[in-house]
Amino acid sequence: MTDLCPHGIQARVQVTDDSDVVVVRRRARELAARQGLSGAETESLATAVTEVARNIVVHAGGGEVLFGALGQAPRCGVIVIAHDSGPGIPSIEQAMQDGFSTKGGLGYGLAGARRLVDEFEIESTVDAGTTITLRKWAATERLRVFRACPSSTSKGA
Ligand SMILES: Nc1ncnc2c1ncn2[C@@H]1O[C@H](COP(=O)(O)OP(=O)(O)O)[C@@H](O)[C@H]1O
Ligand SMILES: [Mg+2]
Repeated sequence: MTDLCPHGIQARVQVTDDSDVVVVRRRARELAARQGLSGAETESLATAVTEVARNIVVHAGGGEVLFGALGQAPRCGVIVIAHDSGPGIPSIEQAMQDGFSTKGGLGYGLAGARRLVDEFEIESTVDAGTTITLRKWAATERLRVFRACPSSTSKGA
């Protein structure tokens, strides 16, 4: 199962419009699956990443999203860094609240994204930009089963 955590996988997607958000979502899914995340974990990460990428389009006018592999079996995960040089967020506390939006949106993007990942970090400076780092880990229980039963899993049981 060592190939569950192939280090060095990295992707970088420039984000300008909604078509780039689709690419970001696909990359998140691909890397999550390669890192051993379950279908549900993969969808949670993809949804969170989609929200922060859409925010880059709507609120910052452009930016980029970086993807990396984390860890070593049996602890494997994905790191996603969404970065822009947009207007920044004056109050992160306010922006993280459910229903807060400065653009007439639903205002659930950031709060929802935080709930969908294991680790969520946000740094923002007014007039300089915003960086959001997400980490999502594969459930270690499932990976431990793989490690305990390598012969049965290798036979496809
Ligand atoms: N990358 C960003 N740059 C600047 N402001 C942002 C960014 N992401 C989020 N925000 C601010 O945080 C608020 C909350 O974001 P979110 O929860 O996604 O709601 P929504 O996108 O529906 O407005 C936004 O309305 C905006 O003011
Ligand atoms: Mg949003």
